[in-house]
Amino acid sequence: MAGRILITGGTGYIGSHTAVVLTQSGHDIVLYDNLSSSSDVILDALKEITGKPIPFVKGDVRDADRLVHTLKSHKIDAVMHFAGLKAVGESVEKPLEYFTNNIQGAISLLNALQTQSINTFIFSSSATVYGEPEYLPFDEEHPTNALNPYGRSKKHVEEILQDIASSNPALRIACLRYFNPVGAHESRLIGEIPKGNPNNLMPSIAQVAMGDREELCVFGDDYPTSDGTGVRDYIHVMDLAEGHAASLTFLESNTGWHAFNLGSGTGYSVMELIHAFEKEANCTIPYRITERLAGDIAEYYSNPDKAAKLLGWKTKRNLKKMCASTWKKTKLTLYSSDTISQK
Ligand code: WQD
Repeated sequence: MAGRILITGGTGYIGSHTAVVLTQSGHDIVLYDNLSSSSDVILDALKEITGKPIPFVKGDVRDADRLVHTLKSHKIDAVMHFAGLKAVGESVEKPLEYFTNNIQGAISLLNALQTQSINTFIFSSSATVYGEPEYLPFDEEHPTNALNPYGRSKKHVEEILQDIASSNPALRIACLRYFNPVGAHESRLIGEIPKGNPNNLMPSIAQVAMGDREELCVFGDDYPTSDGTGVRDYIHVMDLAEGHAASLTFLESNTGWHAFNLGSGTGYSVMELIHAFEKEANCTIPYRITERLAGDIAEYYSNPDKAAKLLGWKTKRNLKKMCASTWKKTKLTLYSSDTISQK
């Protein structure tokens, strides 16, 4: 089993769920986060869920000195790198901010790891590296033609990781290409708590169900899909977290660079998600069909066979559980910008 693991972005949505899974699997972890889009309130929730306090360091991955000190003082053996910016639309408006945070941040982290001879690295990548589908489902061999600065930042870090893996055969690297993470831990103590108006579909539906938003805008119903609305591969965040634990185990006996799709392999349309949520929340989600979102892709979903074969991992939680856990968490969390800054 790997020794102590540093989780950058560990108080964020996926980082915090992964912290629960790793702790409950017996791993020692340390969370490292600049709290720019999360709150250290999460630490109390993690302590309640796991039954023990989780060490936390407030820091930015671009702060090389703080990183090296953290790696040294906590005797870190492996790193899971979640810290970064992740909104496609925002990345189009502020590309330099995305490249600075996501690429410069990764390079700063990788340099710090090199000084400590830490060889195990798991990178939070994204299916957005694939861009417009040349074929579906996406397998890991599909060309990576990312269409936006966010997707390109993930693709560039993957390529940097390929080059350093070629230069050092001792490195053990996994790039995990997430499809669409949704849902929350069953305790309802952690989940997706977007600041202000969320961009993504599931939290937007939840806001309408809560009455925090009048209606949902459906971005186009004239796509070449089953019902004309966008199709995506939604994955429960706990399945995603378990995929990270499986990747860590895989890297204990495999060196080199590896990419894995983390998805369910099933696509659902916007309307299918709306109806599934209405069923779980026993409500009606008012919606209005609006223009397509510029740059949006009609349909994509994963071929998850490689992760099943090499990681012994596949999703276990269905759409019903994704909607139910989102709804239960939402009822506990007020969607407002001060939620994050709440001390
Ligand atoms: C899903 C579908 C929209 C909101 C995003 C990030 C991507 C990745 C996964 C990190 C699409 C439609 C949405 C709404 C709608 N995250 N939609 N009304 O765009 O597939 O990807 O999450 O890696 O980087 O961009 O997810 O949830 O935003 O959209 O009709 O109010 O729902 O058009 O078809 P997306 P999403």
